[in-house]
Amino acid sequence: MVSSTVSSSKLVNDSSYEVADIELADFGRKELAIAEKEMPGLMALREKYIKEKPLQGARIAGSLHMTIQTGVLIETLVALGAQVRWASCNIFSTQDHAASAIAKNGIPVFAKKGETLTEYWSYTHRILEWGALEGPNMILDDGGDATGLVILGDKASQDSSVLDNPSNEEEIALFASIRKKLSVDASFYSRIKGMIAEIDPICALQAAMEGYRVVRLDDVVEQIDIFVTATGNYQVICHEHLIRMKDEAIVSNIGHFDNEIDVASLKSYKWENIKPQVDHITLPSGNKIILLAEGRLVNLGCATGHPSFVMSNSFTNQVLAQIELFTKGNEYSENVYVLPKHLDEMVARLHLEKIGAQLTQLTSEQADYINVPVQGPYKPEQYRY
Ligand SMILES: NC(=O)c1ccc[n+]([C@@H]2O[C@H](COP(=O)([O-])OP(=O)(O)OC[C@H]3O[C@@H](n4cnc5c(N)ncnc54)[C@H](O)[C@@H]3O)[C@@H](O)[C@H]2O)c1
Repeated sequence: MVSSTVSSSKLVNDSSYEVADIELADFGRKELAIAEKEMPGLMALREKYIKEKPLQGARIAGSLHMTIQTGVLIETLVALGAQVRWASCNIFSTQDHAASAIAKNGIPVFAKKGETLTEYWSYTHRILEWGALEGPNMILDDGGDATGLVILGDKASQDSSVLDNPSNEEEIALFASIRKKLSVDASFYSRIKGMIAEIDPICALQAAMEGYRVVRLDDVVEQIDIFVTATGNYQVICHEHLIRMKDEAIVSNIGHFDNEIDVASLKSYKWENIKPQVDHITLPSGNKIILLAEGRLVNLGCATGHPSFVMSNSFTNQVLAQIELFTKGNEYSENVYVLPKHLDEMVARLHLEKIGAQLTQLTSEQADYINVPVQGPYKPEQYRY
């Protein structure tokens, strides 16, 4: 059996914690030892994976009731190689002696029984704080609060008005906590989102302004957990990148062809089919990568493509193009045409009601002032959206 005392999960200079009373740690440790005997599944996992450490490199932000049993879970994750930061997912559920025992073991834990809502959201933030450049790469989320915080925080960093109208006590504390975080670190939430590689400076600037880190694949390939190419280019992820990838990295492409990722270069390695369109490939380093849809467009290979609303925009466009060509074919010569702007505007107009958008009607004076027809098109032909 593996010892209950696991090595500490100290992070980038941070083993700090917020617990009610660290003096309760010894009592918590005694109860943890009892719980370990009653949680044979977790202890069996420690024994099975203690050498292999399959969670090495995982930075887990945990949001789950901070009880004795959760303590056994946390120490199992750490025993399997993970770094962990933990908060409770409920203001009343923490067992203070459990939190203290985990904190005393060097694992950053932020939980007190009876904590205020302000403390609750502050603690949920603390589990997402992993140093200047990193966030968690895994969230273990019982009620979805940590994930929801990242999603809302990211929205708020682009448009702070989403925080303008809290509708209950919970939202008042949550929104205030997000505002506080954004005031000291404007890109905090978006950094958790991921990285983008670009060749076009305009797109790179757009991505950076959206809060993504714009990087060269070559510089970061070992750090990435999930790769998605979407360029329409070829050899974007080359053999030299593939062989450097970390264990269990997920590799996929959303572009049209399978040569964005050099899948052909992987053919000589060992492939194990896990299920349709999911393959495990063993690299020369011994690391295994998970290749989705054999490098072909992953959203259709492994899922059901775009949402119907997106396809409605695209296909309304198609129908209008068919009508235009069928009824006015003689007005077009053999050439490549884009849909006239007024038809593009019609496509958009037909989709506004469904999403509750209210279009402002231009007055004829305003139309004259900006020199466009009242009924559109509203932009000159050369305008880029
Ligand atoms: N799977 C689907 O549902 C789906 C839907 C639409 C388009 N597509 C396909 O996706 C691909 C991209 O289409 P798009 O309309 O988004 O094209 P796009 O040109 O708008 O976007 C591609 C981006 O990739 C960048 N890029 C090109 N080479 C690069 C490289 N080596 N490294 C980093 N960035 C690079 C470009 O600068 C551009 O910003 C095409 O193959 C298209 O057929 C797939």
